[in-house]
Amino acid sequence: MPRPPLALTLPALALTLPALLPACKPSAAHKHAGTPEDPFVIGMSQCNRGEPWRVQMDEDVKQAAARHPNLKVVFKDAQNESLTQRAQVEELLGQGIDLLIISPKEAAPLTRPVAEAYDRGVPVIVLDRAVEGDKFTTFIGADNKRIGREAGKWIAGALGGKGKIVELEGLQTSTPGQDRHQGFLEGIDLPAHPDLKIVFTADMEWLEPKARGEMESALATQKEIDLVYAHNDPGAHGAYLAAKQAGRSARFVGIDALPHEGVRYVQEGILDATFLYPTGGPEAIELAVKILGGDKPPRNVVLGTRLYTRDNTARGGEEIR
Ligand code: FRU
Repeated sequence: MPRPPLALTLPALALTLPALLPACKPSAAHKHAGTPEDPFVIGMSQCNRGEPWRVQMDEDVKQAAARHPNLKVVFKDAQNESLTQRAQVEELLGQGIDLLIISPKEAAPLTRPVAEAYDRGVPVIVLDRAVEGDKFTTFIGADNKRIGREAGKWIAGALGGKGKIVELEGLQTSTPGQDRHQGFLEGIDLPAHPDLKIVFTADMEWLEPKARGEMESALATQKEIDLVYAHNDPGAHGAYLAAKQAGRSARFVGIDALPHEGVRYVQEGILDATFLYPTGGPEAIELAVKILGGDKPPRNVVLGTRLYTRDNTARGGEEIR
């Protein structure tokens, strides 16, 4: 067999091929042409727009998509109900979307509708909370186990290895809640810190009012609470409000670090620290454009995090490597 010219040897081909592909190559599976006149339709299934972080995710998706005249995004809000989210995914599929982005409330109940979309040839980008199995195109999200681990290490240091801790968990049927708990236990390393104790743990389901109620129970049963680790900033804020109401003081650590929420709480002295949890909205649109253009996407996109404390918010926090 004659040797291919040097420019077409395999590694070189791999490098040049993406550049040769047209930006948007409609495949047979696409329902729309992907032109400004007949834009690709992306279904965005959001589990709950009741929380600021999810409002931000939708906004990030909207702004990123607005830069592509050949894209249209249809948003759905499941209002924190998995069954509603299932029905909305089916509705979007019935409308003939070209690609689905979903941030599922819970892993198990959303696994089947996501798999159905995928089996029908609709590419699926799962954002932030995972589903079970492998019937989706790409998962995008930060490493929640790592964030939990970093929070645990930071808390052990901030308390000087001694103190009583309350953990307010995110919904334990959602993967970030499970991972932020597991990672925290690894990071805080109780066997190495015999004077640190977790005195109260409850599932506040990501919700500020629920966190406030759980913290009231913690305050009623625990004479001493030095620090509250909440799996998100609304949870940390709810706990702070309960402590304030009870005339008790403690330190509070959260996760999300939205500029107008967690970072502001740190600036105001309400939280001691918060860890950035990027929404992944811009990355989802960037990847959607590539997938709709015929590129093979990565299976998993891991986003980074940052730590915000009173000392570093003015500098924009600090990257965790
Ligand atoms: C919003 C939220 C965030 C959290 C994320 C985890 O619904 O609770 O605060 O970081 O979901 O999926």
